[in-house]
Parts: sequence; C-alpha cells; structure tokens
Amino acid sequence: MSIISDDNDFLRQVKKNPNTKPEKIEFDKNFENSIRPKTFETYIGQTSLKETLKISIAAAKKREQPLDHLLFYGPPGLGKTTLAGVIAEQMGVDIKITSAPSLERPRDIIGILMSLKGGEILFIDEIHRLNKVAEEILYPAMEDFVLDMTTGKSQTVKTMRIPLPKFTLIGATTKAGELSGPLRDRFGIMHRLEFYTQEELSEVIQRTAGILNIDIDKDGAYAIAKRSRGTPRIANRLVKRVSDFALVKHDGKITRKVADESLDILKIDELGLDTTDRMLLKLIIEKYDGGPVGIETIAAAIGEDARTIEDVCEPFLLQAGFLQRTPRGRKVSPEAYRHLGYKCAAAQRSLF
Ligand code: ADE
Repeated sequence: MSIISDDNDFLRQVKKNPNTKPEKIEFDKNFENSIRPKTFETYIGQTSLKETLKISIAAAKKREQPLDHLLFYGPPGLGKTTLAGVIAEQMGVDIKITSAPSLERPRDIIGILMSLKGGEILFIDEIHRLNKVAEEILYPAMEDFVLDMTTGKSQTVKTMRIPLPKFTLIGATTKAGELSGPLRDRFGIMHRLEFYTQEELSEVIQRTAGILNIDIDKDGAYAIAKRSRGTPRIANRLVKRVSDFALVKHDGKITRKVADESLDILKIDELGLDTTDRMLLKLIIEKYDGGPVGIETIAAAIGEDARTIEDVCEPFLLQAGFLQRTPRGRKVSPEAYRHLGYKCAAAQRSLF
C-alpha cells in the first residue's frame, strides 16, 4: 500500500501562529506517521466502529467491489486519517490523501480523480471546506464514477463524460453539520469517532512508548492518559514531552511521579486543560459573568483564531461539561467554576 499526501498543515499552522517553522510541522507529521497503526489489531479504541468496518470490508471483498464511500466525523486527533489507512491496508489498495483546502481549483480535484486506479481510496480531510465547484465535480464522480467536463462558451458549450475507475471516497470532517446536504447524501454511512477512555489512551501511550523506545510503567502511562483529553494525538505528543523531562531531570523512566511533575510544569492540569482552555473559561467567568458570549468576542479577547477555538478547544470542553453552546453564545457551567477554584456560578455573580 502506498500513501500520497498533499495536505497543507503548514499553511494552516502558520495562520494560527506566524512564527511556526516548516521543520516543526514536518517533525510533527513524520512523528505521527511513524507511530500510526496499520491494522485493526494494532488500532486501539473505536471498537464498535471497527467491527462495522470489518464487516463492510469483508462484504466488499466477497462482492469484488470497492467499499462504499464513507464519512468519518468527530473532533480532531481521534484517528480518522489513521483509520482510512487501516482500511486501505485491509482492502489491499493504495490510498491518496488530500484535504479540501488544497483542492482550490477545479483542476486540483480533476487531476486527483483522474490519477486514481480501480479500487483505490481517495481520502479528503476537512471535507466540509470543499468549494462549490469541487463539490459539483465530485457528485457524478461519487455516484456514477464519471467526470462531467464542459468545454466552450455559451452557445458552443459541450459536455463530455469521462469514465473513471471505481474508487472509494473517504471524507473526514470535524463539522458534519457544515457539510452540504447533497454531499452528505452521497455517503453511504456517516461514522462518528468517539473520545477515547483513559484505559484506551493508556494502551495507546504504552504502544507509542514501545515504538519510540521510551521506558514507562503502567501508572506513568495512566497519569499521561488522564491529562490527554480523550485524544490519542494529544496522548502521543505528551508522552514525547514527558519523556524529555524524564531524560533530563530524572533517570529516563516515566513513572506516575515523573509524569505528574512534568505535566504540571507544562501547565496541563489534572483534567488535561491547558493555558488556552483555562484562559477561555476564566474570561467568560470574570468578564461576562459566566456567559453567554459570542465566539468572535472570546477569540478577540484571548488572541486565538475563532476557528481554532471551535475546532480544537471546544469539543473537549463541551464533552467534559465545562462549556455549553446556546443560541446566544457560550456559557460556562458550574463544574467549570468549581474546577477553576471559583466558589460557584451563583456566588460569583453576587460579586459583580
Ligand atoms: N495512535 C494514534 N491513534 C491510535 C490508535 N487508535 N491506536 C493506536 N495507536 C494510535
């Protein structure tokens, strides 16, 4: 199986942080790729989704047909790209990986569709960001495996149908609600990826540590898992950072004590909240009496991009019950007051 990837992580991260260096992105991507599981057996978590997928794959193989188009949705870092790679491996086909923002011009999507071979998988990340023109090229390609091309202008306009080999499109999105109706309808099934349990994350951490030759015991892995916000991408990054502390400040082994001490220094609290999360919650509590307050106002006040807040910070804060979305904006819950050491919402309100 080969993987061709042209996503534009670098541009996105530069938008978030103009000081980002190209080497950092390359390093993160290479690191993620080096530890990606390639089979269902080594892919931890998402148990019921894996079982459903195994059946779909077995059926497709029996019919000698490509797999139906699939849509994965859920917060970032839960393993959507990794799962697409596992599916390709299991089907014994190649996968081409791209993301919607890099399919800006019609020729980008046409080029990639025409390069596909029979049975191959096309993975489009952030598919909710696909532009209208690209979407319309994709509809007949998904439905009938054809490209409808138009040439000429007004009276002389001609349409040509170009057949494509049968392929499987796997779309991934953090915002299923932003997908257009017609595009959503062309996917057979939508699969939601769930946050991982602490036990699952602890397994992910021990597997990654094994690959990277990092010495860690079970309690150390669990201590990191507890602060990883249900997300394997975060767990994997933390295990590397804690391992740096273990090497420099201790004897190299990650124990519970070493993990807790390092994560405290990294300002990641017992529930995995980082400085930005706490800033966001504190802002709403202290300046807006617990909310509701609009996302753009929050973004401007804490100096973060609104989309980053929505896509990266919020899913976990919502699921942990610290934040609520209302039609009038974001509200902080009494649990968040308690967690951050404020007395409670009602008591806090009486201070203002
Ligand atoms: N690394 C990232 N996601 C993973 C998963 N689901 N299982 C094992 N290792 C992973």
